[in-house]
Amino acid sequence: MKTQQTWEQLLQNNKIWAESKKQVDHLFFNRLSKQQAPRFLWIGCSDSRVPANEITGTDPGEIFVHRNIANLVVHTDLNLLSVLQYAIEVLQVEHIIVCGHYGCGGISAAMSQKSFGLLNKWLCHIKDVYKLHRDELLLINNEEERSNKLVEFNVIEQVYNLTKTSIIQHAWKERNAPFLHGWVYRIDDGILHNICEISPNHPIDSIYRFQFPE
Ligand code: CO
Repeated sequence: MKTQQTWEQLLQNNKIWAESKKQVDHLFFNRLSKQQAPRFLWIGCSDSRVPANEITGTDPGEIFVHRNIANLVVHTDLNLLSVLQYAIEVLQVEHIIVCGHYGCGGISAAMSQKSFGLLNKWLCHIKDVYKLHRDELLLINNEEERSNKLVEFNVIEQVYNLTKTSIIQHAWKERNAPFLHGWVYRIDDGILHNICEISPNHPIDSIYRFQFPE
């Protein structure tokens, strides 16, 4: 690992970065300052090793980002829901990517019986996913592999959680978008894996389906 940078270096790096962007495209910041029009909403883990723009080769302005521990879509999370509503209704994003990663500390923590204080309440959402898939998970003897399998189940569950929101269902009805994607990132080789995709108007269990006035 390279030596830890100081906060002063971060500000210095920033000047160099801004300059290099202008060298390649002198209108880069002018253009961005006028508006943002990202096509993608990214819901990812807060883990510092999974930066949305960097691993997807995208620039500022291309991805609207929400990150939390273990990339959860929780229906009472005002932060997530506000981001989701703004991305869908104002920015009109075409794709939502829920991105987990192998070796996720949040997932491992949720699989343990350790108490983490306040964090327990957040991790409980992952324990609920574990419970849904317990039989299949317990067939895997290797602890790391079992944890990685839960990473995948968790991503899929969070994508389905999106479909249970009126925000997504309404957008599907109004403009036949967005498409939903579940990805998992491998930290040890830098590769993203496509785990699941849900197209607009995918059938939803009737108990979660909303009827909107015409
Ligand atoms: Co993580």
